[in-house]
Amino acid sequence: MSKSILIAGGLSPEALALVPNEVDVDFNGHEHPLSHRDLLARLRGKQGLICQIIDAIDDEVLATPGLQVVSNVAVGYNNIDVAAARRRGVVVTNTPDVLTETTADFAWALLMAAARKVVEADRYVRAGQWKVWQWDLLWGLDVHGKTIGVLGFGRIGRAVARRARGFAMRVLYHDTVRAPAEVERELDATYVDKPTLLRESDFVTLHVLLSPETRHLIDEASLRIMKKTAVLVNAARGPIVDEAALARALEERWIAAAGLDVFEEEPQIHPALLAVTNAVLAPHIASASFDTRVAMSTLAMKNCLAVLEGKPPLTPV
Ligand code: GLV
Repeated sequence: MSKSILIAGGLSPEALALVPNEVDVDFNGHEHPLSHRDLLARLRGKQGLICQIIDAIDDEVLATPGLQVVSNVAVGYNNIDVAAARRRGVVVTNTPDVLTETTADFAWALLMAAARKVVEADRYVRAGQWKVWQWDLLWGLDVHGKTIGVLGFGRIGRAVARRARGFAMRVLYHDTVRAPAEVERELDATYVDKPTLLRESDFVTLHVLLSPETRHLIDEASLRIMKKTAVLVNAARGPIVDEAALARALEERWIAAAGLDVFEEEPQIHPALLAVTNAVLAPHIASASFDTRVAMSTLAMKNCLAVLEGKPPLTPV
């Protein structure tokens, strides 16, 4: 029996080229994301689904008769009801590893931009405000030699920590599980509890998965114990931070700045965050480099095809 795949969003041509002749592809592309209803309708009769983080893969989707695999083109998979998939025998896969370094690069881009007011400086220049060199213009925060606190010490958190060595920084981390001693040694990273990390870090960067346990991990109380000079970076998932509390923290300067790639209700952003000058905002693009998008696409396709061929997927959730 021939198999069919629905590709709900965008995917690189390199991934499409991997599809064997006997597999049919229904490629939606990225320009018109499918509504839940259209997703259900287009998925009928398909065995594979390749989807993006904006596609809500709930029990109703997973109940599609004959569906074997949901291949998410992302490392995070909070858009998928994994428990329901398990119950229904649908394999779920994601794209870890291939985006680790690119995402870590971007977390650093946000960190540096927020610390050194890069975006504010750009706006100032473009607005024609630069009339004369000024001694006291756009002072920012040093990065080198400071303390970075990595909350969530998985692949991406560790890649972020590795880069901190080039800036001669002290590295603190917290996770539910302590890293092996050799990892701590290699990264010169010290395990601390969450309050210590928040109190002592000049830069707090978030790299946990979104789950009920990590929702609002950074809440008002967390923001209030951070340094007034601290910078918060979030390139993980929006709901890990209580966005309304963060907006107040930035407005009232409980902390100095934030660099944010993700938001609680994307693409909606809390209006107060849009209004403050001490936040650098990006539209969820941390893994969006040319090379990494191709790597994510091909891994997602290989995962999907493997399951359809009765083989184990490369990176199951
Ligand atoms: C992107 O947000 C991802 O989870 O890969």
